[in-house]
Amino acid sequence: MSPTSTTSSTTGSWLVQGLLAGAAIVVAAGAYAVISTRRTAKYRSRVVGIIPARFASSRFQGKPLIPILGKPMIQRTWERAKLATTLGKLVVATDDERIAEICLGFGADVIMTSESCQNGDEPLIEPEIIDGVVKALQAAPDAVFSTAVTSLKPEDASDPNRVKCVVDTHGNAIYFSRGLIPCNKSGKANPHFTYLLHLGIQSYDTQFLKIYPDLPPTTLQLEEDLEQLKVLENGYKMKVIKVDHDAHGVNIPEDVKKIELLMRERNLS
Ligand SMILES: *[C@@H]1O[C@H](CO)[C@@H](O)[C@H](O)[C@H]1NC(C)=O
Repeated sequence: MSPTSTTSSTTGSWLVQGLLAGAAIVVAAGAYAVISTRRTAKYRSRVVGIIPARFASSRFQGKPLIPILGKPMIQRTWERAKLATTLGKLVVATDDERIAEICLGFGADVIMTSESCQNGDEPLIEPEIIDGVVKALQAAPDAVFSTAVTSLKPEDASDPNRVKCVVDTHGNAIYFSRGLIPCNKSGKANPHFTYLLHLGIQSYDTQFLKIYPDLPPTTLQLEEDLEQLKVLENGYKMKVIKVDHDAHGVNIPEDVKKIELLMRERNLS
């Protein structure tokens, strides 16, 4: 990990003002520490990882603090993200004093934000996925955003809380939807097709982040209630990496038991 200057916390605060709905982990990859040519190894090399942690939630109040095998979920997510090698700095962004205090207690850097941010709710996120998303953006100067998908489990095909994605042959996102995309003419999920599930980890170019919050909401974004569609509807490119990840997002209290069971099985603690 490389040391970062104090401006990264400023980066963090404008980053989380209302634009990161649905993200478990967000990464801002900066180009400004950089030298002349865009394609140097240092391109977008100042990388700040941000884990949003909001206390209030319609479905799951106080979610970031729920214990998973004895540690708060936010701590588990933070510990995993901490293992990513591409992050120069990692912060928890929260709207809540209780969360801030606990995070400071286990050694995290914390920034206070408005209430609009979402939740770091992928406690089993692999650090390699974070690194993969960061590197994808660093390797794609024509993209302003990168994110990850994994294969969708057939039983999740009709769940509107699982966001699906389709990509082009260059690995750029074409569209995200709560509906099943693509749609087979049989009207049912095709067991032979690999549908892609969007994972809540994303990386943005910091220059792009300066204009992004000021872009007005777009039609499809509002209809699907998916923040990332604003990027595509405005014509920006988004890189998508495919990863092998058994998604265990915590959306409802019952998910905690499932995760704990899985962690015991895998001897994670
Ligand atoms: C649609 O799904 C069915 C299985 O449900 C599959 O046999 C078929 O090849 C798929 N594609 C088309 C174009 O029907």
